[in-house]
Amino acid sequence: MNQLTRILAIETSCDETAAAVVENGTSILSNVIASQTDLHAEYGGVFPELASRKHIEVIHAVVERALQEAHLSVEDLDCVAVTYGPGLVGSLLVGVNCAKGMALARQKPLLGINHIEGHIYSLWLTESEEIEFPLITLVASGGHTELYLMEDHLQFKHLGGTLDDAAGEAFDKVGRLLGLSYPGGPAIDKASVEGNPSAVMFPRAIKDDDFNFSFSGLKTAVLRQTQRYEKGRLPVADLAASFQAAVVDSLVTKTHRAAEYYDVTAVHMAGGVSANSLLRRKMQERIGIPVRFPPPELCTDNAAMIAAAAHWHFIEGQSHGLDLDVIPNLQL
Ligand code: KG4
Ligand code: ZN
Repeated sequence: MNQLTRILAIETSCDETAAAVVENGTSILSNVIASQTDLHAEYGGVFPELASRKHIEVIHAVVERALQEAHLSVEDLDCVAVTYGPGLVGSLLVGVNCAKGMALARQKPLLGINHIEGHIYSLWLTESEEIEFPLITLVASGGHTELYLMEDHLQFKHLGGTLDDAAGEAFDKVGRLLGLSYPGGPAIDKASVEGNPSAVMFPRAIKDDDFNFSFSGLKTAVLRQTQRYEKGRLPVADLAASFQAAVVDSLVTKTHRAAEYYDVTAVHMAGGVSANSLLRRKMQERIGIPVRFPPPELCTDNAAMIAAAAHWHFIEGQSHGLDLDVIPNLQL
């Protein structure tokens, strides 16, 4: 279906205040992100109360700028979309209320979009021409590590997910153990370049009869390993590289298995961890079908991906004559 849509989306599920306008689910007209990373760095993780207060301060300026950069006004939009969950409830409420207010004031349809679906649709912002179903998508971020089979637009079958920590959460916690800057993912990625990935053989929780992941045992193993060294003598690069190799091995092995089992046309990766350089390389080396991932700026949280997902809901809703003022219950 090639219906032209122009959708403004708002994303405030965690610590980025973001708004974007996307045309037809594929062309980014604007993509504004106000990051709070510096605000949370001293706590080594996102401080929920601070995050929601900061969203309130900047949300209107961010939305205004997204419209200005797209050279559009609210009247030109087909719909307003907003992330309704999962995420931090105080943060989500800021975006949801802003979107609701705009839609109500200007009589525009309002669509609530699932954050994980947004990450999945980030691939359509750069690769839409190439994509054919069925696909396996790995969503790996600070809050999620999930494998989906996607047989058509909006048709997701959940194959498995993390049983404990998300991959990004493990990167962030291990980054802290190693004394690296926050967030730990990019810092470990960088530190690993100088390290030996075989220095320590950390455990991989890779059962061969499911598509689930587990990273908490690995995190504990890194903690134990750090306790063996005197203060100031931690071999940071080697530990970072060995930890990263273990996470990537688990992610690639399960994704590869799912791709073979369901005989798909391609593998997609999305979410903050899909920016990881070793993960990108190993996935391409091990999987004999196309592997796609978004450019780094679309891996981490942004509103363009929410608008991309909203496009498909919008055209589906229109074709079924559905009421488009839809914000499902907040999922915490
Ligand atoms: O998707 P995202 O921005 O937020 C959530 O939805 O959680 O992902 C953030 C996560 C953080 O845990 C961060 O450490 C991780 O993505 N991350 C990375 C890299 N860049 C970001 N992890 C590994 N390697 C990277 N290069
Ligand atoms: Zn995310």
